[in-house]
Amino acid sequence: MKIVHTIKDLQVDLSALKAQGKRVGLVPTMGALHAGHASLVKRCVAENDVTVVSIFVNPTQFNDKNDLAKYPRSLEADCELLEACGATFAFAPSVEEMYPQPDTRRFSYPPLDTVMEGKYRPGHFNGVCQVVSKLFDIVKPQRAYFGEKDFQQLAIVREMVRQLRLPVEIVGCPEVREESGLALSSRNARLSDGERQDAARISQILFASRPYAKEHTVEETKRFVEQGIAAVPGLRLEYFEIVDGNTLQAIADWHDTSYAVGCVTVYCGEVRLIDHIDY
Ligand code: PAF
Repeated sequence: MKIVHTIKDLQVDLSALKAQGKRVGLVPTMGALHAGHASLVKRCVAENDVTVVSIFVNPTQFNDKNDLAKYPRSLEADCELLEACGATFAFAPSVEEMYPQPDTRRFSYPPLDTVMEGKYRPGHFNGVCQVVSKLFDIVKPQRAYFGEKDFQQLAIVREMVRQLRLPVEIVGCPEVREESGLALSSRNARLSDGERQDAARISQILFASRPYAKEHTVEETKRFVEQGIAAVPGLRLEYFEIVDGNTLQAIADWHDTSYAVGCVTVYCGEVRLIDHIDY
């Protein structure tokens, strides 16, 4: 595997490979890689001739400077994992390389980006679209792989690709969980052992809400999850919404959609965690 830091170096190598007819897949990441990322990379390696994994902690998608500063960074370990997964390139540019000038482009996909994470992290999805569209332009992949864990992000990236008619196939890959049920996230690296146990309660409560939902209304199911989380002293709920999985709009009745998804954001200590479940 080759580690590249500049757009030019990556493009020189990629154009030689593309001239040989190789198909290129991209896995955009912010590093601090874990088994969830490994599953995306392995799938990309299996479905393409060349796999580019970008490792870039994108400042424009952080609305909280403290969160950006504390985001875990581990390039060396990341590259070892990528090598073991069979990636062709790790693309790890600097902030100056990606943003020589401020990116003034604005991306807005209402109503997908006005709810949930869009509401609580203003500007977040604009930043995600800035960097993802830039990466698509640099790499020009045939396919790009995103985790379903970031459920709203995946819906917004799909919408951006649809509206801008970008020539890339977006592949969504299933969320990966620890044995405890905790959804894998780079942010988990910041949890203490005790916090990890509290954090595992989030998915356990979501899973318990599935059978509960079969016998109860949307409102009651919301309350079940909200109260479950409130009962764990180490957790602080930011929001729990039950939405139509396609439009991401809140539903009032199970009959409003055939694809209901519960999306949750919870603080565990200082660490902000997201998860979701389909009903
Ligand atoms: O999901 C992430 O890790 C990031 O939002 C992404 C897609 C790599 C863009 O920075």
